[in-house]
Formats: sequence, C-alpha cells, structure tokens
Amino acid sequence: MFLAGTLLLALAACGGGGYEPTPVPTPAPTPTPGPSWSDVAPLRDAAAQAGRLVGAAVLSSLLGSDATYSGAAGRHFNYLTAEYEMKWDPVQRVQGQYDFSGGDAIVAFAESRGMRVKGHALVWHQALPDWVASLSPPELRIAFEDHIRTVAGHYRRRVHAWDVVNEAIDDSQAGLRSTVFSRGLGPDYVAEAFRLARKADPDAQLIYNDYGGEGQNRKSNDIYALVKDLKEKGLVDGVGLQMHLSAASFPAVADIRANIQRLADLGLQVNLSEMDVRVRDVAGDAATKLQRQRQVYRDVVGACVAVPRCEAVTFWGFTDAHSWVDATFGADDPLLFDEQYRAKAAFFGVEDAFFGR
Ligand code: XIL
Repeated sequence: MFLAGTLLLALAACGGGGYEPTPVPTPAPTPTPGPSWSDVAPLRDAAAQAGRLVGAAVLSSLLGSDATYSGAAGRHFNYLTAEYEMKWDPVQRVQGQYDFSGGDAIVAFAESRGMRVKGHALVWHQALPDWVASLSPPELRIAFEDHIRTVAGHYRRRVHAWDVVNEAIDDSQAGLRSTVFSRGLGPDYVAEAFRLARKADPDAQLIYNDYGGEGQNRKSNDIYALVKDLKEKGLVDGVGLQMHLSAASFPAVADIRANIQRLADLGLQVNLSEMDVRVRDVAGDAATKLQRQRQVYRDVVGACVAVPRCEAVTFWGFTDAHSWVDATFGADDPLLFDEQYRAKAAFFGVEDAFFGR
C-alpha cells in the first residue's frame, strides 16, 4: 500500500495521471490590412467639406524619388510642412551660404498640385549648425536677423504660413526655455523674430508652435500668455499645437477643445501642427491598439473641427514607413497609413472627425 501511495504522489507531483498539456494561447488574429492609399477617398476632400486644411510633414527626397510616397501625399493632403529642410541647419549649414533646394522642391511639388505650404521653422533651438553657438551676442543678433530676413524673404508669397518660433516655452518651469537665443538675445528674441518675419513676408500667417501645451496645464497657460502678448503687439496670427500624443495617456479631449477655443478667442488661427498618436503603451492586442488609435484621432481632430478658427490639421508624416516617432523612440506605428501605405483605422477616424460622424 505504501508503495502504491508513494507512486501516486510521485505521479501527481510530476503531473502524471490526469495529465493536461498547458494550453498554448491562441495568437491574437492579425488585423486585416486596410485598403490601399489609392483606393480610399482623398482625406483633403473630407477636410475641405469641413472647411479645413489637412496636411503632412514631408521630405523632398521622398517626394522626388518615391512614387507611392508622392502619390499618397498628393492625393490626400492640401497643406505640406517641410519636416526638416526649411530648418536653420539644412538651409544655412555654413554661415552666409544658403541652400534652399530642399524647401524649394517641396514648394514646387505643392504649387504644381494647388497645395499650400507651411514653413517650419525660422527659429528653433534644435537643428542648428554648430557655428551658431560659437557667436558672440552681437554676432548672434546679426546672424539671427539675417537668417529670418533671408529665409522668409526667399519664400515670400510661396508659403501660407510660417512656424516663426518653435518650442520656446520651458517644459519644467514657468517662462522661456533657456536656449542659445534666449541667452544671447534676451527674452525679447521671440517678439523680434516675429517682427522680422512680418517685415520679410507681410502676407504669411505667422505662427508660434509648441508641444506639451495641448490641454490645460502650466505650459499651455504659458503659451497662452506668450501669444496673447504677441497678439496685442500685432505680431502673431496663429498657434501650432504639435499634438504628439500617446493613446495610453494624453490630455482630456475637453481640455484640448477648451484650450483651442481660448486661443481662438484671442483672434488666432489654431493648427494641430504635428499630430501623431503612439500606441505601443496601449494594453491589448494589435486590433485593440488600432481601434484605440482611431478613437484618439477621431476625438482630437473632432475637437479642432468644433472650433471654427482651428484652421488646419497636419500629421507629422503620414505613413508608418517614415515616422519621426519610430525613428526617434522605436517602432510605434503612430500614423494614418501603414508601412505598405494602406489606410489604417486611424485614417477613418480622422475622416469621421471631418464629417462629424
Ligand atoms: C524632427 C524631424 O521629424 C526630424 O526628421 C529631424 O531630424 C528633427 O526634427 N518637434 C518639431 C519638429 O517641431 O521640427 C521635429 O521634427 C519633431 C519635434
């Protein structure tokens, strides 16, 4: 008896007897890919019937070499932003030597298709050539004025708007971010940049652009105070809320809408200027992530459509094949088309927002 009992215990301990194999989890079904970019109605038609511009950040190298990229950009958008090529570094890498080739190619592509262009960005503390930091304050002022005057002058009557100053408000404390410009020129550099841009291109809509101030928080209050002051001086026409969001946690849509509304109430045009929606941190399978992404795009673009002065929605890229988020933070697939340029659920979420669905 003792032996039999021992045998039973041994079998039980190693899973003998009523052995049940560990169930292999059924892999979540891979979501069915969406329709090709060429098989869905142009997003710009949905935007136009809502009285909005819809755009994307683009690279001239891809517009000129990739037929799928240029075809999709030309079909779906009516407002292009230079993702990189109108920034200080590519335009004036060597002091006094200007290279407008990249930006000119984007403008030419847009003009040939009746699209508008937003210049980005005349003054930003990143994408600066090394020589800028080596200047004395007097030298910096001369270079600052020359850069804005020359670049905005070059694109006069060829851009609808300029991001004149980008990301000047500090992330962690009230007031301006400490940059080569604030340190070398003082806090008035922001207003001075707008004065120079206004003189160089009186017809362009002049925008202050920033991130992290999409909802109601200290930074959005600082942005509001900054642009209120600039507006009272007649220097600014619009605000760009970059809208780089994570679907796992982002400002309440009601706060985003209230923030857009209060900026519009200053008499400013508002842009969602660099929108992408990350999903990596969203719990669940791929299908769940895609649906959550769709919902966020729908609700946030809907907050823009609800405010008449929210003039334009621009995505920071449009295909996951070329995403700043993926290139900078790792694979996340934050955009409207997948890597094969098929329309994701996010695309239809934006379309729903423009149609008020
Ligand atoms: C990024 C571009 O996407 C990159 O290609 C470039 O190397 C660096 O700048 N906020 C901005 C944009 O205002 O200019 C940045 O674009 C992304 C963050």
